[in-house]
Amino acid sequence: MHSPRPDADAVAARLRAAGCVFADDEARLLLAEHEAGRPLDDMVARRVAGEPLEQVLGWAELDGVRVRLRPGVFVPRRRSAALVRTALELVGRGARPGVVDLCCGSGALGLAVARSVPDLELHAADVDPVACACARDNLDGLGQVHQGDLLDALPTDLVGRVDLLLVNAPYVPTDELGTLPREARDHEPTTALDGGVDGVALHRRVAAGAGPWVRRGGRALVETSRRQAPLTVAGFAPADWHVDVLTDEGLGATVVRATRR
Ligand SMILES: C[S@@+](CC[C@H](N)C(=O)[O-])C[C@H]1O[C@@H](n2cnc3c(N)ncnc32)[C@H](O)[C@@H]1O
Repeated sequence: MHSPRPDADAVAARLRAAGCVFADDEARLLLAEHEAGRPLDDMVARRVAGEPLEQVLGWAELDGVRVRLRPGVFVPRRRSAALVRTALELVGRGARPGVVDLCCGSGALGLAVARSVPDLELHAADVDPVACACARDNLDGLGQVHQGDLLDALPTDLVGRVDLLLVNAPYVPTDELGTLPREARDHEPTTALDGGVDGVALHRRVAAGAGPWVRRGGRALVETSRRQAPLTVAGFAPADWHVDVLTDEGLGATVVRATRR
């Protein structure tokens, strides 16, 4: 006997009742996972309880690239496509560029770049072991994942060889964490969100330490906000870096681009 095909409308109704704005779309995605063999009730219950859709699905999309995700790992944000697109404009010219995805989370940024640039030396690093495990899922065969604090995690033979340093570090000021959506507060670790008193504590540390790693003419790209961009810029010593700020209105994204002198 066949079990009846789950009713998409009934799933959507449960999601809608739990406050999911895009309930019909979400129901369709959950049913597709179910058809691939995953228990529907469990997924719907997790979503109804407030877990981010992407963590429930086990994947997210960044600029058209599917990224595997685990519970407790930061969900890549749509605006971070600006970092990927800027990176793709900059790499690919040299032979086998050295790319670092710092504060990599799931490894989404490195993965999206690697999907478009066939031959690069990719390193990703994060302090969180769960994020590192997730990044290893995504970057298997594409790059190495290192666990540790910011640049200290990287192998020292990268000193002076980095062409592109991608940074999406946490940049929410500590006293604004409470204003984040509940999904983020409850299901993403504070280490993935908290940027310190003014939000740019990690940007400052990366900017202060990146000089020896990035080759002359190489770039550091740091995702920030429009409001915090001047603070992020100020972290880079003008003697060592030429810095400008790029914005993408469509994505609502701000990227600090620092070029090593
Ligand atoms: C905003 S999330 C970005 C993740 C990923 N780059 C993305 O865009 O989806 C920030 C990440 O920085 C990591 N992180 C926070 N503090 C760190 C540190 N001191 N060293 C390395 N990684 C850190 C967190 O664990 C988290 O995965």
